[in-house]
Amino acid sequence: MKKLNTSMNKVAALFCFTVITFINVNALNTKPFPKDFKFGVATAAYQIEGGWNEDGKGENIWDHLVHTNPTAVANNDTGDTACDSYHKYKEDVAMLKYLGVSHYRFSLSWTRLLPNGFANKVNQRGVQYYKNLIKELKDNGIQPLVTLYHWEMPQTLQELGGFLNNNFIDWFGDYAELCFKLFGDDVTNWLTFNEPGPICQHGYGLGDLAPLYKSPGIGEYICGKNLVLAHARAWHIYDDLFRSKQKGSVGIVIDSRWFEPETNKTEDIQAAEVMRHFVWGTYINPLINGDHSSIVKEKIAKRSKQQGFKRSRLPEFTEEEQKYLKGTLDIIGLNHYSTYLISAQKHPDPDAMGFYVDCEAVARQSDDWEKGGTDWMRVVPWGIRKLLKWIKHTFNNPKIMITENGFCDNKDKLLDDDRRINYIKTYLSNIRDAMDKDGVNVVGYTLWSLMDNFEWTLGYTQKFGIYHVDFNSPNRTRTKKKSADYYKKVIATRCLTDM
Ligand code: BGC
Repeated sequence: MKKLNTSMNKVAALFCFTVITFINVNALNTKPFPKDFKFGVATAAYQIEGGWNEDGKGENIWDHLVHTNPTAVANNDTGDTACDSYHKYKEDVAMLKYLGVSHYRFSLSWTRLLPNGFANKVNQRGVQYYKNLIKELKDNGIQPLVTLYHWEMPQTLQELGGFLNNNFIDWFGDYAELCFKLFGDDVTNWLTFNEPGPICQHGYGLGDLAPLYKSPGIGEYICGKNLVLAHARAWHIYDDLFRSKQKGSVGIVIDSRWFEPETNKTEDIQAAEVMRHFVWGTYINPLINGDHSSIVKEKIAKRSKQQGFKRSRLPEFTEEEQKYLKGTLDIIGLNHYSTYLISAQKHPDPDAMGFYVDCEAVARQSDDWEKGGTDWMRVVPWGIRKLLKWIKHTFNNPKIMITENGFCDNKDKLLDDDRRINYIKTYLSNIRDAMDKDGVNVVGYTLWSLMDNFEWTLGYTQKFGIYHVDFNSPNRTRTKKKSADYYKKVIATRCLTDM
């Protein structure tokens, strides 16, 4: 009897342990977020403003793409009017006020300020628009968090090569300096580039985002080099001329999925780590440590040599550039949406070139994961916690602001958006765990997005907003979704609760 009891106890203990483990993994972290933790929402100029040629605004690469190559976007949609925030910004700020956010992340349209891209001619009406928006925010106690470049290269500069021309570093520096001068008394938190990955890998590698330039494995790496140097230029300008007076910070926004090894095999564990370094080691490592991660340099150099190139397709930084780059990041902006399973590529094609083949890894998502509106939108909340922990260990515990995170569906006017609420809740719970249990330095969370908007080549088919926008009405009427009230409650209580 005793024996039986003992083994039953063991079974009971095991059961209990399993249940507890299960509960721990899935349990909602209801511990309040710290008092100084910031909750906000995000948008980007081309995705919401409209007014594409109003009041002296110049053409950018997205204006150019939708007008010259309309089939590149779902339903031939354009951002010509988008959410019409150029005229309705006061309504947007009223929505922000209702939510109770501490900050609003938006971007400046370069060609609204500098119609030809160069800093010799400033468009005063464009300046006024952003002054008005910033004043409206400040009057309502909301801090602006401003992205200088959210994918809107002036068309004139694109015609000179855009990111492939190393004069871009000067052009961007001039533009950034102007913005610091014009708005820096009210804006203290700056982000230079939104997502180098899509800018370079998709804009200049795969060529499936504007400017649709296809140069896998070559152009995309030149883009990356000029981009990080342009970031450093802006950071140095801020540091030399503005920081002591304006007392702000300059960061960059990186998009990163979590890359989980497909199996426990060493080769898959290594492949996942290589993949992480391809994303972080190409853009963030240079800004923190002055150079690309060695894993990335070695892989691309090896493949380039096999392919008969005289030098690596990944352009090196000179010693002087390395010094210039190192330590030019005050804060990391993290955009995170989903997770991928990574395995080692068994037979890499030796001739293939490009970011996604140079890493010699295969990525996929599991069909078991809940799917949102697009193929890549899979709900994997634990991924964000693992990613945050990895960033902490890899980069010596940097300051992180979540600059985007959110859920898309593809149903119009789905106001009872319970799946979005679940996404926000479970991702935030994992962020809270990362802070609380893993000691990650996350200072804020910025939900994507305030309202449904122009989702790049997917046009208006994907809805990320916590406000619905009626794109069929000239008024672009905004209507609150259930998730807006959920988020409002989270902000007010600083706690995750059930709705
Ligand atoms: C971009 C946003 C985009 C969002 C959803 C991010 O990559 O910064 O502009 O709308 O993802 O796809």
